[in-house]
Amino acid sequence: MMSRVFEPTLLDGKAALITGGGTGICRGIALAFAAHGCDVAITSRKIEHLEPTRDELRARGVRAAAKAADVRDAAAVAGMIAEVAAELGRIDIVINGAAGNFICLAENLSPNGFGTVVDIDLKGTFNVSRAALPHLKAQGGTVVNISATLPYLGTIGQSHAAAAKAGVDSLTRTLAVEWGPHGIRVNGIAPGPIEGTEGVRRLTTEKSRASALTSCPLGRMGTTDDIANAALYLASDAASYVNGVTLVVDGGLWLRSARILGED
Ligand code: COA
Repeated sequence: MMSRVFEPTLLDGKAALITGGGTGICRGIALAFAAHGCDVAITSRKIEHLEPTRDELRARGVRAAAKAADVRDAAAVAGMIAEVAAELGRIDIVINGAAGNFICLAENLSPNGFGTVVDIDLKGTFNVSRAALPHLKAQGGTVVNISATLPYLGTIGQSHAAAAKAGVDSLTRTLAVEWGPHGIRVNGIAPGPIEGTEGVRRLTTEKSRASALTSCPLGRMGTTDDIANAALYLASDAASYVNGVTLVVDGGLWLRSARILGED
């Protein structure tokens, strides 16, 4: 193995599987994990979304794998996880980041549209976590589910994604309790709007971004580093007694979503 220049590190000697790891928030997590000595496998539906990030990971001196698999397809997920475990030798950390979303009012949303997002976000999280369990059990491990603050209030145009993420948070709590005795911690992260991501490009307008900046107590959008640092914390031994929580990383934005009386 190539020598690493990052010692001492938080995740040295570990291996992580990161779904949706080619782009956006999860690319940031993958690069941060690699900087802390972690071998990383990234997966998404399209291999061309993964290859540039895989090459960046390798340039950081860790082993990196890129695998195309649709998290909705349990058989494909099982095959992908077997390949990752064979290539990296172990899986200590699973980041469930693969997600699909668009804005659509419930009255205009087809049953298949609703089901598609639930299948990717919620069933995908279940499929990947369940298939990775034997590898996590082998030496104790951890799962971090990427969630959202959408279900905390009624979010217009997000019936599908809010329901899916509420389900993800429920799964986080149940798996934390079921898998804790195996030495496996299961937690989540609920990011606010993160600048430069596909989510912000697809799901916000100039007006809604300006409104988020005004409302956010910290007065800024999040960065992929903000989320990567939260994931580093939850995945590392620094969080060894943290189990079953979803950490909101949004600068306090959702708390300001309720109107203050007398405010425009
Ligand atoms: N508005 C309303 N319905 C939509 C929609 C939109 N913008 N996009 C997809 N749907 C519906 C489709 O109409 C279809 O339902 P139907 O068969 O009743 O017409 C259903 O969702 C499945 O769509 P399809 O495009 O066949 O599914 P897919 O598996 O190829 O992709 C998504 C589904 C949700 C992932 C797709 O929007 C996508 O590829 N998004 C880009 C990636 C992404 O969302 N990233 C996350 C950003 S936060």
